[in-house]
Amino acid sequence: MSIVVPSLSVSAAGLSFHSPLLNASGTFNAPLFNQLFPLKEVMGGIVTKTVTQNPQAGNLQPRTTELPGIGMLNSIGLQNPGLAYTLATEIPELKALGLPVILSISANSSAEFAQMTEAMLSHPHATLIDAVELNLSCPNVAKGGIHFGSAADSVKEALRAVTGICPKPVFAKLTPNVSDIVSIGAAAIEGGAAGLTAINTVLGVAIDIHQKKPVMPRVSAGYSGPGIKPIALHAVWNLHKHFPETPIIGVGGISNAQDVLEFIMAGASLVQVGTICFRHPTIFKSIQADLQAFCAKDRLDSVSALTGCAHR
Ligand code: SIN
Repeated sequence: MSIVVPSLSVSAAGLSFHSPLLNASGTFNAPLFNQLFPLKEVMGGIVTKTVTQNPQAGNLQPRTTELPGIGMLNSIGLQNPGLAYTLATEIPELKALGLPVILSISANSSAEFAQMTEAMLSHPHATLIDAVELNLSCPNVAKGGIHFGSAADSVKEALRAVTGICPKPVFAKLTPNVSDIVSIGAAAIEGGAAGLTAINTVLGVAIDIHQKKPVMPRVSAGYSGPGIKPIALHAVWNLHKHFPETPIIGVGGISNAQDVLEFIMAGASLVQVGTICFRHPTIFKSIQADLQAFCAKDRLDSVSALTGCAHR
């Protein structure tokens, strides 16, 4: 009897990924972790930390606080070395890992999104970038980020500014901090998004009971980790229900293969693994092995057959 090894390959937005597992932006030092385990064997692609046009220093410390058992709060404030440095230095280093590279970008205006896209496309390393993720959802900045992502008009405008000139697939990373994520997803698709990434962090607050003050200097911060999984699944479920043809990257509290399968069955084509990486950077190895085992046990030829199956 021959044993069929199920395929974990996924096609989405015109790209091929040999695994549905990506990292969530800003949670994963890919070149460093590649020294611990070859990422190519257990991941489908790499997402960069979100970059802005110019370098940003980020927010005051503390920028993170652990919420034992349920995740963490972060308020990094999009600290990054700027687009020019990322294109010149980080992109070739990431591409050398042998996986599709998704560049995550944020801007304060549609015009700035267009300028960043032009700068990216005219850079000699542009060919090393496979797709772009527009971060329209960072909750830790005074301009851009969530301020773009909470209104359908500005989401559509931002997408148009990029997709109007960018031949690469563009994913829109959505915030859950809105009353109707489906209308925001619709605006992104109207603006030309090839896919949606759902979700970014949920707004949260922690109080230091000894200081009798908020822990984080900006008070509110982005909550991630296992506690947000049902919120993220709710978003993925509803986005897939309304836009079944649009590839969705599911993200939010994914810590194991069970979580990955829930997101895929709710409608995700790919997933991003984030907060768990801070504790277990090698988690991709066990998730990949467990996914493979689930598909083999279920006699599936391909994991992609499961996308959205819970809706049927
Ligand atoms: C941050 O840099 O503050 C986090 C990034 C994000 O939430 O998009």
